Amino acid sequence: MIEPTRTSGPDLSGAPDWVSHRGLRGWVTDVARRVRPDRIAWLDGSRAEFDRLCDGMVARGTLLRLSPRLRPRSFLARSDPTDVARMEDRTFVCPERREDAGPTNNWIAPDEMRATLRRLFDGAMRGRTMYVVPFSMGPVGSPAAQVGVELTDSPYVAASMTVMTRVGRAVGEGLGADGPFVPCVHSVGMPLDAGVEDVPWPCNPVEKWIVHFPETREIWSFGSGYGGNALLGKKCLALRIASVMGRDAGWLAEHMLIVGVESPAGEKRFVCAAFPSACGKTNLAMLVPPASMPGWKVTTVGEDIAWLRPGADGRLRAMNPETGVFGVAPGTSRHTNPNAMEMLREGAIFTNVALTPDGDVWWEGMTETPPDRLIDWRGAAWTPGCGRPAAHPNARFTAPLSQCPSMDAAWEDPDGVPVSAFLFGGRRATTVPLVAQARDWAEGVHFGATLASETTAATTGQAGVVRRDPMAMLAFCGYDVGDYLAHWLRIGERLAAPPEVFRVNWFRRGADGAFLWPGYAENLRVVAWVLDRCAGRAGAIDTAAGRVPRHEDLDWTGLPLPRERFDELTRVDPAAWREEVSSHSDLFGRIGDRLPAALREAEEHVLSRL
Ligand code: OXD
Ligand code: MN
Repeated sequence: MIEPTRTSGPDLSGAPDWVSHRGLRGWVTDVARRVRPDRIAWLDGSRAEFDRLCDGMVARGTLLRLSPRLRPRSFLARSDPTDVARMEDRTFVCPERREDAGPTNNWIAPDEMRATLRRLFDGAMRGRTMYVVPFSMGPVGSPAAQVGVELTDSPYVAASMTVMTRVGRAVGEGLGADGPFVPCVHSVGMPLDAGVEDVPWPCNPVEKWIVHFPETREIWSFGSGYGGNALLGKKCLALRIASVMGRDAGWLAEHMLIVGVESPAGEKRFVCAAFPSACGKTNLAMLVPPASMPGWKVTTVGEDIAWLRPGADGRLRAMNPETGVFGVAPGTSRHTNPNAMEMLREGAIFTNVALTPDGDVWWEGMTETPPDRLIDWRGAAWTPGCGRPAAHPNARFTAPLSQCPSMDAAWEDPDGVPVSAFLFGGRRATTVPLVAQARDWAEGVHFGATLASETTAATTGQAGVVRRDPMAMLAFCGYDVGDYLAHWLRIGERLAAPPEVFRVNWFRRGADGAFLWPGYAENLRVVAWVLDRCAGRAGAIDTAAGRVPRHEDLDWTGLPLPRERFDELTRVDPAAWREEVSSHSDLFGRIGDRLPAALREAEEHVLSRL
C-alpha cells in the first residue's frame, strides 16, 4: 500500500479537484517522473469519457467501429499476434521469501525484481498519455470492496477497465484523504521516441512481465495489452492480491461464478462454481433453463470471480467484485449462451474475432454455417475451408454485466448472497463422474484441491493434457498453495452451515469419443439434484469419488437420456480412480509439508474405500 502521508515535492499528478488523497497524488507524481508520459488523464468514469476514448482509438486504428445498425456502439480490436492471452510463464508473485510464493508461482527476489522494473519503466510511457484509473472491486463504499488505481498508457485498457470495474470520480472521492488503495502500474512497453511510429496494438515483443508484490500489495505489468495481463483489477487484484488479503483477514478470493437457482416451488439457492479457464463458466453463469423444465429460474451474480466471507449468520456469502465480462467468444452462440448473445447486442468491445462484410462480428461456433467471406482476426481475407480459424481461439468480448438479461436482483448487494453449494468442475474425457457430492467439508476441500482439467488451445496452446488446477486457482493464488488449502479448511471450521461441495464433469466421453452428456442448459438437471441434496432431499450412492445420484434421482422430463448412458456418466471405475488418486502426488508432492494433514487423511479415506 502507498503511505498516505508521503509527499514527493510539487504535485505533478494532474489530479482533478475530486481527489484530495495526498498519497495518491504523490504516487502518481512519482510514477509520472519515472515513466515520463506526454500527458496525464484521470478517468471520471462517465459515458462521455468512454465514448471519447473509443473515438480516439477508432481514429488511431486500434478499434474498428462495427455497423451501428447491426452492432450499435460496438468495436473490434485486433491485437498483435504475439499478444493474445494471459501469460502464466511471465507472471510473478514476489514475496520476500521464496517459500511464501509456494511451488506453483514464479518467484524472483523482490530487490532483483524491482531493479528490473526500474529499468523497464524508465521512460516507458514517453510520447503517450498516462491514464489514471481509480477503480473499485465491489460496490463503491462497501466495506467488502477494495480500491485500486491503475496507471496505464493503453486507452484500450482504460476503456475496458470502465466496463469491467467501477471507475472514476465516486471512487476517487470515496478514498478521502487517506483511504487505502492498491497501486497498479501498466505499460504496453513501447515508448514513442523520435522516429518510432505508433501501431494499432502496441506491446513489447521481447519483454513481458506481470508482477505482484503481495506484502506491499502492488502490481506492475509491462509489455502486454491483453486481458488479465493488462486489466489489472481482474486476475491481478481481485484474485492474486485479494487471495492474500483474504488469507490475512479471514475471507476467500476465488475463481468462481455465482448463480441463483430457483425451483418451480419457489425455493431459491445460490451456487458458486470453480472451473479452469475455457470450461464454459460464462455459459453456466447465464444458463437459460431448458423448455422441458418449466418454472425453473436461473439468475447471474458473477461469471468469473467470487469474494466469499463468513456472514454473521454462520453462512458463507459471495460477492462479485466485477461489473463486466471478459468472456471467451468462440463457442458462444444463441444455443450455448443466449443471455450472453443478448448482452452483446450493443455496447461491446470484441478482440480478435472475425469481421463480416457488413460490419458485424463472427467467431467459430457462433452459427453452424460460417459466412461465405470474412476478414479474420489478423485482418486477412478468410473463406470457409481455408484452413485457418477466423477468430483466435482465445478471442474475447468485453461487455457490461448490466446488459445481461439474467442478472440477479441482488448482484450488486454489498453483503453478497448466501452460498448453498460449491461445484468444482473440469474438462475430463474419462474417469470423473458427471457429479459427486463430498461427505464433509474436508473431503470437499480435497475435491477442490485435486481439481484437474484437460487443457485447451485457448489456455495453453496445447490441447488435451490433464493439468491439476487446485480450485481453478493454479494461476491465480497469490501465496503458497498449501497455506491456501489450509485457509480453506479453517474457513469451513468457522461456518455454522458450510456449503455442500460437489465435483462435476460435463465433458466425459464414451468409447466412440463422443460426449456422453448434452451439457449447456441440461446442466440444470444436475444443479437441481445438487439443490435437492442441499435441502436433504434426493438419493445418492456412495462411491470412492463421492456420493453420486442414481438414475431415479434426476429429473428426466424432456431429456430421453438412455439409462446405460447415465450409468456410464456416473460410473466410478476403481482401477481408474486409483490411478487418478495416485496422480495427485504430482501436486501434493510439490506442496510438501505445507499440505494440510486433513487433506492427506481425506486422500487416505478415498484409498481405503477403493
Ligand atoms: C479468464 C481466464 O479470462 O480465466 O477469465 O482466463
Ligand atoms: Mn477466469
